[in-house]
Amino acid sequence: MPEHQKIRNIVIIGAGNLATHLALALHRKGVNVIQVLNRTRHAGERLARRVGAGYTDDFRAADLGADLFLLAVSDSSIEEVAKNLQLKAQLLVHTSGSVDLSVLKNASLNIGVFYPLQTFSKEKRINFSNIPVCIEANTKENEEKLVQLARLLSNKVQILSSSQRKVLHMTAVFAGNFSSFMYTIAEDLLKKHDIPFSLLKPLIQQTAATAKNEDVFSRQTGPAVREDTKIIDEHLEMLSKHGVYMEIYDLISKSIIKHKNRNDQL
Ligand SMILES: NC(=O)c1ccc[n+]([C@@H]2O[C@H](COP(=O)([O-])OP(=O)(O)OC[C@H]3O[C@@H](n4cnc5c(N)ncnc54)[C@H](OP(=O)(O)O)[C@@H]3O)[C@@H](O)[C@H]2O)c1
Repeated sequence: MPEHQKIRNIVIIGAGNLATHLALALHRKGVNVIQVLNRTRHAGERLARRVGAGYTDDFRAADLGADLFLLAVSDSSIEEVAKNLQLKAQLLVHTSGSVDLSVLKNASLNIGVFYPLQTFSKEKRINFSNIPVCIEANTKENEEKLVQLARLLSNKVQILSSSQRKVLHMTAVFAGNFSSFMYTIAEDLLKKHDIPFSLLKPLIQQTAATAKNEDVFSRQTGPAVREDTKIIDEHLEMLSKHGVYMEIYDLISKSIIKHKNRNDQL
């Protein structure tokens, strides 16, 4: 890509978890964050200071000279905030896993998505290099610009359509949020019996390490995959006072057995 088409100056809209991480990471890679726009002054000014940018809470006062407008605001406000920016043809992206590219279509002629697949919170340091960044854009040229920018941060840049990105986001709920809730259930039950959660940590680490390989299910162990109904019934009995946990145990055990038998038939 010719030097003059590269993204050098960006405006970040938002000063929450992702905006903070992206602004800092891009700033470290030599991209100029020239302005931070945020509804709440305190958070916006703080982020602007950290990256040497200007700050405004007036969405109509965006610096229109920027090469990229990076929207990292809550999913439900993307469309409205984008329109308020009053752009014409400036490249505008949102950063959501679950919002269609088309919500930006009335906000600029050049639009895209820059979605990093990870969970971000301001307090926790993040190394971007292994975080997949999913790109979508309305033209090939915009796609190339965004891919190039994403490569500054990550060595896992992936082009995905809106529908593919939404599937990925949905599966991240299974792989991330639901797995995490399973740990919460375990922790809760252990606490009730005065047993330290730390005893499960080596198992949790081993399970996560195993999931790095393909065909995760072939490494599944435990009573469900063995179809050990005696143990399963015993566990269900132990959970009889914890209605929802019992339902989850039962449903997942049945799903594992079904999945195993489906594979057996292949
Ligand atoms: N956090 C993650 O793990 C993660 C990962 C991948 C993608 N994303 C995406 O990143 C985007 C931001 O998420 P986040 O987690 O960073 O959110 P967040 O920490 O809750 O921050 C939300 C930001 O949106 C602004 N905002 C909310 N409603 C607004 C409105 N009506 N008008 C103007 N500004 C508004 C907030 O401004 P105030 O400071 O004024 O409240 C704040 O700057 C979302 O699209 C999300 O899907 C997040």
